[in-house]
Amino acid sequence: MSELTNEIREQIKKRRTFAIISHPDAGKTTLTEKFLLYGGAINQAGSVKGKATAKHAVSDWMEIEKERGISVTSSVLQFNYGGYCINILDTPGHQDFSEDTYRTLMAADSAVMVIDASKGVEAQTRKLFKVCTMRHIPIFTFINKMDREALDTFELLDDIENELGIATCPVNWPIGSGKRFKGVYDRNQKEIELFSDTRKGTTTGKVRTIAIDDPEVDMLLEEGQKEQLMEEIELQDGAGAEFDQELVSRGELSPVFFGSALTNFGVETFLKHFLRMTTSPLPRQSDQGAIDPMQEPDFSAFVFKIQANMNKAHRDRIAFMRICSGAFDAGMEVHHIQGGKKVRLSQPQQLMASERKMIENAYGGDIIGVFDPGIFSIGDTLTASQKKYAYEGIPTFAPEHFARVRQMDTMKRKQFIKGINQIAQEGAIQIFQEYNTGMEEIIVGVVGVLQFDVLKYRLENEYNVDIRLDNLPYEHIRWIENEDVDLDKLKGTSDMKKIKDLKGRPLLLFVNEWSIRMVLERNEGLALSEFGRS
Ligand code: G4P
Repeated sequence: MSELTNEIREQIKKRRTFAIISHPDAGKTTLTEKFLLYGGAINQAGSVKGKATAKHAVSDWMEIEKERGISVTSSVLQFNYGGYCINILDTPGHQDFSEDTYRTLMAADSAVMVIDASKGVEAQTRKLFKVCTMRHIPIFTFINKMDREALDTFELLDDIENELGIATCPVNWPIGSGKRFKGVYDRNQKEIELFSDTRKGTTTGKVRTIAIDDPEVDMLLEEGQKEQLMEEIELQDGAGAEFDQELVSRGELSPVFFGSALTNFGVETFLKHFLRMTTSPLPRQSDQGAIDPMQEPDFSAFVFKIQANMNKAHRDRIAFMRICSGAFDAGMEVHHIQGGKKVRLSQPQQLMASERKMIENAYGGDIIGVFDPGIFSIGDTLTASQKKYAYEGIPTFAPEHFARVRQMDTMKRKQFIKGINQIAQEGAIQIFQEYNTGMEEIIVGVVGVLQFDVLKYRLENEYNVDIRLDNLPYEHIRWIENEDVDLDKLKGTSDMKKIKDLKGRPLLLFVNEWSIRMVLERNEGLALSEFGRS
């Protein structure tokens, strides 16, 4: 057993690990880039993603991913700022994102939601948000692109409250938008941060602030803007929620900030407030109670993502884990709880932008990737503690597209089963079976349709098996929460389908929400869940 030294405790205390979520194009990459500028981790904007600047800089395995259309891997960026050590978990901002996006949120302590001021809450944000609220993790909102014509501020706040069911508390308030954007008013300090486009200046350009009652304000704002601001603030003060750190920590109140990532305005203000309001690594639930990083001396972590075959020649996999307690040293031996064995964690690495770098040490709150010889599954626990506890599993998220899959060559059944099981183990797809029909066919469920192509491609290329996919009309899946339901007696609808997962647990597939409601009405006491237990 190791000792929880002050050094380890200090290291963990200064960790801030959060996911950044947004609808594609809302400005997540641009904002992340600006964060890194403040941390001095990059010295030039445009280095995070190979968009315009560095297409060639992406490493090989990302290239492979791209080719296969798996879209961008969630990477983890680490940098230091203001005495904090920050881990940003980037969630793939692809339209057709996969379950990985959801799982990434399980490794974070809070989430930053980026919203395009001209669009408000969009479909993808809504989905990701559900996962945040399920875990009660604090959510911070950055309303971006104020340098463009924006929706009305109250409308934006209402949109968040209505669509996502969470109260909002604007920390600052925008003055105008687009060509008339003058800056933001800090409600606490009662001063205006004047908009300036620092994108071309020094990396962390200074922003001028001025007290709201300074007579110069009238000269700096356009006609009517100050009056409008004062009216809006009065209205907000009267009707809006007050800031309450407790509610923020429970994920019930989202502090809102306005800015423009592209012009580097409002970013540092956001970062400063956010780092103060968000939390250092929190205790996590295990089968032996909560494990608190401020008490538990030993290393522990859980796997939340498996990245397969980054190098096809070696069939290697990387297991990404979130460290929950203690310190990690390269090459250390730990218990792999689910495997029941001791394993050495080798080739530990961290992702910095599009590069991988080897690391020697890491602490609670950090995310590391280690070489996986094919033994880890999503949700597995690793710990150096003799107590051998296991962290709560990661839920299985509801797939929204289903297909029946069969191998073209019946002689290749074995490879087919092996391949599809391995791919499912990595968490890219979920597999199910027919319920009591005697048919051996496999039903595949995915969160984004692109995963069907990935499955086909990988089975062909890695397992030499051609498959045929027949799409099924179902869009909703529900796990049955009740332990004692007799599926044969369940009163369903004509378009409902009964299936089972690999552990033999029954599930229901539905074409639409209406069917779900009907089945719930027809079967008193039936409890259905959108999230499965792993
Ligand atoms: P994402 O990661 O959320 O998908 O968004 P990303 O940062 O890539 O931004 C999407 C587009 O929006 C980019 O333009 C980016 O420059 C622009 N953008 C981001 N923040 C702001 C902002 O505050 N104001 C304005 N006006 N635009 C912003 P693009 O033309 O698609 O890409 P690029 O060629 O500029 O890289």
